[in-house]
Amino acid sequence: MILKNFWYVAASSVEVNSTPLARTICEIPVVMFRTGAGAPAALRDMCSHRRAPLSKGRMLGDNIECPYHGLQFDPVGRCVKIPSQEEIPRKAHICSYPVVERWGVVWIWMGDPDLADPAGIPHKPWRADPAWNSENVHYFHIKASHLLMTDNLLDLLHVSWVHVNTIGFAADAVREDPLVTEVSECMVRNTRVIRNIEPAAALRSWGDFAGRVDRTSVSDWTPPCFTAIHFLNRDPVTTIEFRLDHLITPETARSHHYWLLVSRNFRIDDEELTRKVFEDNSRVAAEDMDIVEAQQRMIDLSPGSVDMPLRQDRGLVAAHRILDRLAKQENAEAKRNAG
Ligand code: FES
Ligand SMILES: [Fe+2]
Repeated sequence: MILKNFWYVAASSVEVNSTPLARTICEIPVVMFRTGAGAPAALRDMCSHRRAPLSKGRMLGDNIECPYHGLQFDPVGRCVKIPSQEEIPRKAHICSYPVVERWGVVWIWMGDPDLADPAGIPHKPWRADPAWNSENVHYFHIKASHLLMTDNLLDLLHVSWVHVNTIGFAADAVREDPLVTEVSECMVRNTRVIRNIEPAAALRSWGDFAGRVDRTSVSDWTPPCFTAIHFLNRDPVTTIEFRLDHLITPETARSHHYWLLVSRNFRIDDEELTRKVFEDNSRVAAEDMDIVEAQQRMIDLSPGSVDMPLRQDRGLVAAHRILDRLAKQENAEAKRNAG
């Protein structure tokens, strides 16, 4: 199930401008644009007249014009003009969605608008802190359920296999794995500290490490499908520290949008390093994308099949329980409101 009563990322800030941007979010086609005053707006991407996509239309000031017969809609979805008649029926208005721009992305609320409290947007202060470089924003479109990518981020066992050539560490280290999983009502934290290991291939160049390092990752998963990773590697002279924000937005039941926001607090003005980190993280994400899309294909070919969880998957199993509970709550609320 796709949870609706949450803030999701709809776009990076730079994507939203005076050209309409079409994106399907939680199975609903949405068009986004920015008003002259700079505020982002999001409307249902379907004209009330004959259901043409407004995203194929053009902006006339702050209003968007349908490309089919010229109806115009303002940034909150009110139909403000029907060129072929004076009267504007109430049914001409279309749905708009609350949006908030924060931490370099535009957040959208697809659920009950009365519950849309911006205080629910995850807190990412490092993205506004001048001591951190937060330039790298990645976007990926992935042909797999958003839950598979969420699971991937909760399942740290895969790092030694899927990312063997990038950020992985020697698989031996997971035999006596120091993975600690803590579960609270609405969070799963996976902490893994591995001491005195060879730095991963990508890390060697990021940190300029000569020898072995202590590697720490603390991954906080929160519903619906966000994972914030605090990643540190240090040797006696150097410490490199990243904040990796993995923000997943369902598109359909079988596809999702995936934003990865990368922040670091070392060599923050080193443009060459910024480029290198971007390339390396693109490769890491492509490795995840490849396995997750392949996994979805197998699942689609095997209806009724189930996972066989390992001890290492306890965080993932706990997150599924939280999601099930929230889905039941949301269903019950929707029934109450309908009844
Ligand atoms: S379909 Fe949009 S104006 Fe007719
Ligand atoms: Fe991964």
